Amino acid sequence: MVPDAEELPEVLLDLAVPHEDINDLVALRRTLVADPGALRLLRACVDALLDGGGETGGDGREGGGRGQRLVELLAEAPAALGPCFPVYVFVAALPHTRAYHRERGIPADVTRRTLADLGRNMAGHRRRHGRAGVQAPRWLAQHFRGELYQLGRLQFERARLGQRTGQAVAAAGLDAAPGDPCLNLHIPDFHGPLTPQACDRSLTLARAFFARHFPQEPYRIAACHSWLLDPQLQRYLAADSNILRFQERFRVAYEAPEPADTEPVRFVFGDPYRPVATLPRRTMLERAVGDHLRAGGHWYLGHGWFPL
Ligand SMILES: CC(C)(COP(=O)(O)OP(=O)(O)OC[C@H]1O[C@@H](n2cnc3c(N)ncnc32)[C@H](O)[C@@H]1OP(=O)(O)O)[C@@H](O)C(=O)NCCC(=O)NCCS
Repeated sequence: MVPDAEELPEVLLDLAVPHEDINDLVALRRTLVADPGALRLLRACVDALLDGGGETGGDGREGGGRGQRLVELLAEAPAALGPCFPVYVFVAALPHTRAYHRERGIPADVTRRTLADLGRNMAGHRRRHGRAGVQAPRWLAQHFRGELYQLGRLQFERARLGQRTGQAVAAAGLDAAPGDPCLNLHIPDFHGPLTPQACDRSLTLARAFFARHFPQEPYRIAACHSWLLDPQLQRYLAADSNILRFQERFRVAYEAPEPADTEPVRFVFGDPYRPVATLPRRTMLERAVGDHLRAGGHWYLGHGWFPL
């Protein structure tokens, strides 16, 4: 299930796992394979990960419950393997993911750049905790299930319109309803600026990609549920900033009442729980996020959509 110690570094390298984490993972592999209980858990995690693989089910932030079983199982991982355990789960699932991509005719470079998000996530873990580990196994489960693809600057999740977004789209006069297919947009970290040109290119790629590889799922709506769509950012950022240009693409689906302060703090400063008083003020966005919180304000997720 897990490649041997010779093969593992190459597999990890292909998943963009940071170089400084590879020796730790090869060494920990011995702990894993010597523990029958951990191997049983690994098998159960792969089953949970691939359960219903390839079927869209997520409603994005609107409440999809998939992945919960995987998260519960991962919580049982032995302490010695800790936050590295999910890496072996993804590596064990990899042949299934690759087979699914091959069946769909997905180009090898799309597969590679999509699954490289494992390494990106581990880079984030190291930035925050100073050691190897996976921050968001539930997030990555979508990639390994064939639900999410990176095409240029953006990632696209095969999803369905949730209640509130679906109603907003219908109210705008489109022939769409909750439950219809939509592509949820995600903006990966560590990938340079979010220029309008890069987004246009991504969207062009996505239109062709999904029509070709998922012809049975007509994607007519793009949606996004992100702190980057909080309209309060307009008070702080320059009108021609990439983030505000990105916001302009979207129509508001609905406004969320719950504060989500940890989201911008996580993505701008690398640690969602970093004390607000210590947040640096080097860039316009850093000043925006920190000053707003220090003044007693809150940040919210914005929920937007546009026709593809
Ligand atoms: C989204 C992202 C690519 C936008 O970066 P960008 O294209 O440079 O954005 P803008 O042009 O709007 O930047 C405006 C200002 O914010 C700063 N800024 C943008 N992103 C920043 C970040 N992650 N950290 C610190 N400062 C940032 C820019 O430097 C600029 O300030 P300056 O003029 O003082 O230099 C970037 O914020 C990022 O990588 N974020 C992490 C990923 C993320 O949040 N994804 C969404 C998950 S829901």
